[in-house]
Amino acid sequence: MASDRTKFRNSLFALFLFSINFPFEGGRVILACRDIAKGEAAAREIIAETGNQQVIVKKLDLSDSKSIRAFAEDFLKEEKKLHFLINNAGVMMVPYSKTADGFEMHIGVNHLGHFLLTFLLLDRLKESAPARIVNVSSLLHAFWRINFKNLQGEKYYNELLAYCQSKLANVLFTRELARKLQGEL
Ligand SMILES: NC(=O)c1ccc[n+]([C@@H]2O[C@H](COP(=O)([O-])OP(=O)(O)OC[C@H]3O[C@@H](n4cnc5c(N)ncnc54)[C@H](OP(=O)(O)O)[C@@H]3O)[C@@H](O)[C@H]2O)c1
Repeated sequence: MASDRTKFRNSLFALFLFSINFPFEGGRVILACRDIAKGEAAAREIIAETGNQQVIVKKLDLSDSKSIRAFAEDFLKEEKKLHFLINNAGVMMVPYSKTADGFEMHIGVNHLGHFLLTFLLLDRLKESAPARIVNVSSLLHAFWRINFKNLQGEKYYNELLAYCQSKLANVLFTRELARKLQGEL
């Protein structure tokens, strides 16, 4: 029987397939990955499963704003349309570390990285309407709060709370973005 982890992965994969097949069958899919070799292995699987040959892997490290900006610049140069942005990547309960920009890793990658990427691609999404942004959060968003007095783990660090906080940030970002974009996508 499939584990919960496998089921979750399959549901994400289904989301990818949904985004490929409906309503833009055969659309180009860009897999934005920090590890190109892993991305290419995933691309081969998607191509085998869907028959869609237009699955492309590009470098994106969400823990480094320079990489995010370089990815977005390249994307905007190469791609005229963007119908689905799926912000799925995330770190989970990792030991204390910082992004290249000095943010605590969970809030930096899981929230700020996706926030910057979405902001840089937003005009292209609007131009491509109908379009959708999917932010992958977690049930654990409900277990903690945004701790403004210790946002970056500067006073103390608990990896579970840091993860929960970043997933709550995903939910708050999604709600506010949906409010601001009403009717635009
Ligand atoms: N697994 C669960 O039980 C669960 C439950 C609820 C929600 N979620 C959410 O689901 C999403 C996917 O999680 P998962 O379970 O599939 O975890 P996973 O297997 O660890 O996958 C996370 C992905 O994020 C990528 N990633 C991490 N840091 C990155 C960075 N700095 N730049 C670019 N990519 C980066 C990883 O790349 P590498 O392959 O290079 O490591 C990996 O492909 C996350 O947002 C997570 O919070 C997971």
